[in-house]
Amino acid sequence: MRKILVIHGPNLNLLGTREPGIYGRITLEKINRMLKELARKNKASLTIRQSNHEGQIVDLIGEAKKKKYQGILINPAAYTHTSVAVRDAVAACGLNVVEVHLSNIYSREEFRHKSLITPVASGTVLGFGAKSYTLGLSALLDLIP
Ligand code: DQA
Repeated sequence: MRKILVIHGPNLNLLGTREPGIYGRITLEKINRMLKELARKNKASLTIRQSNHEGQIVDLIGEAKKKKYQGILINPAAYTHTSVAVRDAVAACGLNVVEVHLSNIYSREEFRHKSLITPVASGTVLGFGAKSYTLGLSALLDLIP
């Protein structure tokens, strides 16, 4: 059974009430349920983590291979644009990593136009709201035999 780690970055615990004009009203719990359902249909197992702390995210990525995960689905949230440490962890982890964003970061403020993660990710899905996550998980599962 394929084993996937899902990482939600900072402030994504606030989904549902956080800037609904941008992120919609969907909660993180609902997104996680959608992901679990998709994983179940594809006979994959998911571990889901949310963290507001950069170092904790770096640790999760760095330990993933040792813990026998075969791929990572990550929304690095604000760290997308700022974290060389998260980028280096992704580059070093030796796993397929799919980056997702709810919003289209390129249609927003200029400081969001640069992702440090995209160049080291297997692929990126953005702009489709919660569907970015399910599209990203499907794509990730396709990369793992
Ligand atoms: C986000 C986009 C980021 O710019 C922002 O900091 C987030 C969420 C998204 O999913 O659209 O927290 O990653």
